[in-house]
Amino acid sequence: MLPRMERTFIAIKPDGVQRGLISEIVSRFERKGYKLVAIKLVVPSKQFAEKHYHDLKERPFFNGLCDFLSSGPVLAMVWEGEGVIKYGRKLIGATDPSKSEPGTIRGDLAVVVGRNIIHGSDGPETAKDEIALWFQPKELVSYTSNEEKWIY
Ligand code: TYD
Repeated sequence: MLPRMERTFIAIKPDGVQRGLISEIVSRFERKGYKLVAIKLVVPSKQFAEKHYHDLKERPFFNGLCDFLSSGPVLAMVWEGEGVIKYGRKLIGATDPSKSEPGTIRGDLAVVVGRNIIHGSDGPETAKDEIALWFQPKELVSYTSNEEKWIY
């Protein structure tokens, strides 16, 4: 990994998986030029969902949110690239899909905040914590993609 490279945690939530949006979403990150370094399909327990969203535990929607995240398969991923944490959030769009810009994942593919299909880390610290929560170090694959010299 080049020193300037960063990594972010991206997850397609159960609604995105059930709606058949995996390839659509993965392809947006791929085509942008980011590199996939880890991916797995998991059904998180409620307790695990609560850990993932621990920052929100005082919010009124916390319980429903954790029920939702643990209701079915989630596609957990780690993406790598220059500026991927911040720009990944830009690709995803605003939290409430009724306010997300068209052209963003939530803007194009979702309608309401409680079913906004995708999660992305909101900063370097959360990215580090979320990657460590969802993946073991050995699940993160380091490799050089042949395309990289045409991107950087
Ligand atoms: P948050 O971390 O604020 O947003 P983001 O996912 O964009 O980082 O909230 C986490 C999730 O909680 C959000 O994706 C959807 C859900 N949520 C609600 O259900 N209702 C709400 O009013 C908010 C703010 C979030």
